[in-house]
Amino acid sequence: MATACVILAAGMGKRMRSKRVKVLHELCGAPMIDYPVSLALQRRCRPVVVVVGSQRELVEQHLRARFGKRVRIAVQDPPLGTGHAVLCARRALGSQRGKLLILYGDVPLLTGKELGALARASRKAELAFLTCRLDDPTDYGRVIRDGQGEVVSIVEQRDASRAERRIREVNSGIYLVDAAFAFRSLARLGRGNAQGEYYLTDLVAAARGRGLRVEGVEVPPDSVLGVNDRRELARVGKEINRRLLDRLMASGVSVLDPDSTFAGAEVRIGTDSLLLPGCVLRGQVRIGRGCTIGPGAVIEDARIGDGAEVRAYSVLEGCRVGAGATVGPFARLRPGTVLEDQVRVGNFVECKKAHLGRGTKAGHLSYLGDAEIGRQVNVGAGTITCNYDGEHKHTTRIDDGAFIGSDTQLVAPVRVGRGAYVGAGTTVTRDVPAEALAVSRARQRNVEGYARRKARKA
Ligand code: UD1
Ligand code: CA
Repeated sequence: MATACVILAAGMGKRMRSKRVKVLHELCGAPMIDYPVSLALQRRCRPVVVVVGSQRELVEQHLRARFGKRVRIAVQDPPLGTGHAVLCARRALGSQRGKLLILYGDVPLLTGKELGALARASRKAELAFLTCRLDDPTDYGRVIRDGQGEVVSIVEQRDASRAERRIREVNSGIYLVDAAFAFRSLARLGRGNAQGEYYLTDLVAAARGRGLRVEGVEVPPDSVLGVNDRRELARVGKEINRRLLDRLMASGVSVLDPDSTFAGAEVRIGTDSLLLPGCVLRGQVRIGRGCTIGPGAVIEDARIGDGAEVRAYSVLEGCRVGAGATVGPFARLRPGTVLEDQVRVGNFVECKKAHLGRGTKAGHLSYLGDAEIGRQVNVGAGTITCNYDGEHKHTTRIDDGAFIGSDTQLVAPVRVGRGAYVGAGTTVTRDVPAEALAVSRARQRNVEGYARRKARKA
């Protein structure tokens, strides 16, 4: 029978000092709550119930959008403690047979490894829970063990004696417990403690009182680290990023400086590609094999072909870059841009909804917006597509093999035919036929001796 899972996420997280509820703060591009929910689903828990309270509409909306029917929602209002929170999930959980796993919306570093150890311990115990040893155990529940090392109870900081406060083994709050026992005991829980709350931790003493077996399994502190404030948010975020980069490196990607490189969970990179320092890769990013990216490239929702180079400080969003293409340094590719294979887009070139055919080059200082550009086109330095007339956007078409001289303005809608030339400094307002030359400059006039005459007047 499947293990059920309840994830506690009703608290606001006051120490975040934020308008937004804690579990919706992001870690490496995903709200914190996604981590325990994904873990529970990976472990095939059924059902998975999230207990919400603070800003519950927002949390629920997010969970629906992200996980659909795979999670159920239970509401705790007002929050009367961790024991009460689990009780609030009772109806949503349905059957109360089998095991119940209890996780937290603000504990994102936990992995299948620790849950595996917990599952093994729970085979011989009605209640198993994860503990860790801290140099500074302040504020945590202490694990009280007897002379034989058996767990007797958990005592909260505020209820602990001075001797108990010296204990460094603390409760992580993560339990795997017989569900029927848990709900029977929780229903009887009192709140005669320092915080006037229903303590989930009281389950431990309740189990021992009935002669049931309890196992405390010690795991490394980092794996059960909770996020309470923004410092912990940063620390946990770094650790998640390090894990994501480790995965990329294990699959054959070089990362020159993992400390300054950020890659979200949905970034896929082929073997022998290299990430230089300062790159930030977000959203759905696919990078091929043998690519060099950065330093300082910002790439979001993009697909990049084999052997492409995205040079220093380029910003790419919602675009496709073909194999063997080179982009930047200092290029900007905005949504809807497609660069086919072997395209070259150089420094200070901005593209938006621009399609550049195979082998086309735009080397310097250009704006190419709403542009359909063919193959082997040369776009000179300073070329601008004037795509906006103040009301509507219009398309510029440049056919295969055309040559656009430097400092050209193409006033859209307009088309430059196959193999045509546009002279430098031209403002193209009418279509240019294939193979023709368009020039719109005024003829140059030289005024001889001008400087000397000007000096005499002064
Ligand atoms: C709890 C444990 C403590 C353990 C610590 C680990 C209890 C009584 N104490 O402490 O032994 O060392 O976690 O971090 O369980 N929550 C709700 N509803 C509530 C109360 C809490 O959903 O009514 C959620 C919070 O959003 C949070 C989690 O439960 O995610 C833990 O709550 P918190 O108040 O931080 O736990 P502590 O009382 O500090
Ligand atoms: Ca508390």
